[in-house]
Amino acid sequence: MSIAPVPRIAIIVVAAGSGTRLSAGAPKAFVGIDRHTMLRHALAGVFAATRAQVIVVAPAGREGDALTEVREAAGDRIDEASVVVGGSTRQESVAAGLRAVWPDVEIVLVHDAARALTPAALFDRVLGALDAGASGVVPVLPVVDTIKRVDGEMVVEGVDRAELAAAQTPQGFRRDVLETAYRVADQDFTDDAALVAAAGHPVVTVAGDPAAFKITTPDDLERARALLGDDAVVPPARSRSQSASARVGVGTDVHAFGGEGELWLAGLSWPGEPALAGHSDGDAVAHAIVDALLAAAGLGDIGTHFGTDRPEYVGAHAAAFLERTRALLNAAGFDVGNVSVQIQSARPKLAPRRAEAEAALSAALGGAPVAVSATTTDGLGFAGRGEGVAATAVALIYPI
Ligand code: CTP
Ligand code: MG
Repeated sequence: MSIAPVPRIAIIVVAAGSGTRLSAGAPKAFVGIDRHTMLRHALAGVFAATRAQVIVVAPAGREGDALTEVREAAGDRIDEASVVVGGSTRQESVAAGLRAVWPDVEIVLVHDAARALTPAALFDRVLGALDAGASGVVPVLPVVDTIKRVDGEMVVEGVDRAELAAAQTPQGFRRDVLETAYRVADQDFTDDAALVAAAGHPVVTVAGDPAAFKITTPDDLERARALLGDDAVVPPARSRSQSASARVGVGTDVHAFGGEGELWLAGLSWPGEPALAGHSDGDAVAHAIVDALLAAAGLGDIGTHFGTDRPEYVGAHAAAFLERTRALLNAAGFDVGNVSVQIQSARPKLAPRRAEAEAALSAALGGAPVAVSATTTDGLGFAGRGEGVAATAVALIYPI
């Protein structure tokens, strides 16, 4: 078996900003343009460009979500991709990415995840200029507006726009040049070309691409949505009775009694009942459903996406797991048809709260019907003896 050589290029994708100006209720890179996030679109361009080490710089606490996006975009190149946590400024985030660059890498490209629709050709153009001998490259677009220098409300003077250009990313550098410039930087720059120029290195321009515009405001997001056009719009969900290409999956889970706090089961809290033990809330019903849904879509199992290395799922309840699972399914082109789940346990008594449990689980799955049944197993086995809870789920999903 031959082993592919280590790439000589690294692409740092900075995605750690909060998106204050977009104000969409989530860190900007995780805001959806269509059914895919900005980060996922940006990564599609990155992975369609040349082979490279890919480093995604994510906001603290969102590393797991970033990794999910990277996995989906990287396919079998996942070994060449990684996620690191960013800082409070773009410059700190790039610096964090730089620290993760592999030793053999000679060329580093830095790209804003917010330039989500950047075509792969722009990466190639920047790399072409580096190959031709440049040590720093920035893609630019001509400025089309007439520019004024102003002081408050007063115009001070006109500025010749022929002397100006609007900088985009990806910006590319010889690794040694970029690393040195970062080491000596003593102020905050808004892009890497400015930081490298301030360190005394020449930076050349190549033609930018209008599609590489930065999504900053809600208007920009609308523009991105319009550019993606009808192909990007999620097709209307098929009726749930249409089962032509439906797929099924099965999942089971078991948790022992003996956890801290109160019992969480089937998406509900059960005051007065002993708690189940587990990394999250031990809700075996929710976890069995997650496994059944992921299995149906061929997306692995609960450990693949919600492993114990994911701090955000410590103590998490059913809704967090199920909503994330449905998002993963949607990203893979599926939605939930219906779910049937059966609990084996001596307690609690389900029947009085069955409708409530079904409604809670269904709501977390976008309204797909969920049926919950229960058996005491006639007092047999660990479940019958009241040592723990077992749940088995079957899920039907359909392509969207
Ligand atoms: N960025 C980053 N870390 C930061 C700030 C910004 O990785 N601390 C990234 C953003 O995720 C984005 C790129 O740098 O991909 C360009 O920044 P910008 O468009 O300003 O994004 P935000 O800082 O998220 O937006 P805002 O300034 O509106 O808060
Ligand atoms: Mg910013």
